[in-house]
Amino acid sequence: MTALLEVHDLNVEIPLSSGRLHAVRGVSLSASAGQAVGLVGESGSGKSLTLRAVMDLLPVPATITGGTIVVNGVDVSRMSAKQRREHLSSAMAMIFQDSLTALNPTMRVGDQVAEVPVRRLGMSRSSARARATELLDQVGIKDPERRYRAYPHELSGGMRQRICIAIALSAEPGLILADEPTTALDVTIQAQVLGVLARLRRDQGVGLVLVTHDLAVISGTCEHLNVMYGGRIVEDGPTGELIHAPRHPYTAALLRSVPDPDLPVHRLLSIAGAPPDLLEAIPGCAFAPRCPAVIDRCTTEQPPLAPIGRMRASACWRAHDHEHWPPDIAEPAAGEMRA
Ligand SMILES: Nc1ncnc2c1ncn2[C@@H]1O[C@H](COP(=O)(O)OP(=O)(O)O)[C@@H](O)[C@H]1O
Ligand code: SF4
Ligand SMILES: [Mg+2]
Repeated sequence: MTALLEVHDLNVEIPLSSGRLHAVRGVSLSASAGQAVGLVGESGSGKSLTLRAVMDLLPVPATITGGTIVVNGVDVSRMSAKQRREHLSSAMAMIFQDSLTALNPTMRVGDQVAEVPVRRLGMSRSSARARATELLDQVGIKDPERRYRAYPHELSGGMRQRICIAIALSAEPGLILADEPTTALDVTIQAQVLGVLARLRRDQGVGLVLVTHDLAVISGTCEHLNVMYGGRIVEDGPTGELIHAPRHPYTAALLRSVPDPDLPVHRLLSIAGAPPDLLEAIPGCAFAPRCPAVIDRCTTEQPPLAPIGRMRASACWRAHDHEHWPPDIAEPAAGEMRA
């Protein structure tokens, strides 16, 4: 498989008045044509900054302080800012969570989809218009000629998110980076938007990096999963394997936070304790203060992301000792439930 994206040892830091916030701490990940790769983790674990760093869209004053980003075989860190922007915008597109702020409120949605084909692909207005209508149809918008003329506020959240996907597709990218693209949507619309992304992969070989805090969404979409905690990837491997037999206690804890569809009232389990302070150096495993399987070594030595077999890796000193993890990793603790 062709690697569309290879990120190696990425570091992102944010200088703040209170110190340097080390938000992304040595992340490596890759995505190939037609592959869907998931990135999950609690809020604040560094998922968005990782994607934004890849897309060269970091918020000021965040900066990349280490690592390499190779897109379509080219190391973009060696390019000038202008070359990099051109290379990235032809290879990749990003979809954000909030479709309302991502769209221009004063411009018809169809014209927003047609803009890139005119500006970047050099299409005539009429060809771009036809192309935009085709894209609206492709992302499942019914009656695309009529919807072309709508303004964002006239459309539902699900429809706006599809417009964002159509805009992302208008530059014909090989890879889509989607940052919580369905979080703001209800479950039915969420399934439709995920269906659009799945079709693009299957029919056009588009690669997908999907960020979410929802393991249930990932399990239905991605064949490979990266679990992020405190700015690092702590476990990665084939999604089914991670979900059925996690080899990092944090992955196990996240799995417990997935709503159980068999329960009459959907209950989410939160993970007890707070995420690590990213302003501080973390001497051992960042999950140690919350980990039911913690041993002495965990608080002093940082576990590397080490291979387990050919396809998986875990950053846990006890990855090979999982049969002996305490049972409360697998069983929800009553005190942790919230409605
Ligand atoms: N513009 C910013 N200014 C200061 N801190 C930020 C900024 N953006 C993100 N952070 C911090 O960086 C960390 C990682 O953020 P982010 O990548 O957005 O996490 P996630 O997407 O996993 O929720 C968090 O601690 C967050 O508070
Ligand atoms: S290294 Fe130790 S603290 Fe970290 S997840 Fe593994 S057992 Fe828990
Ligand atoms: Mg985020």
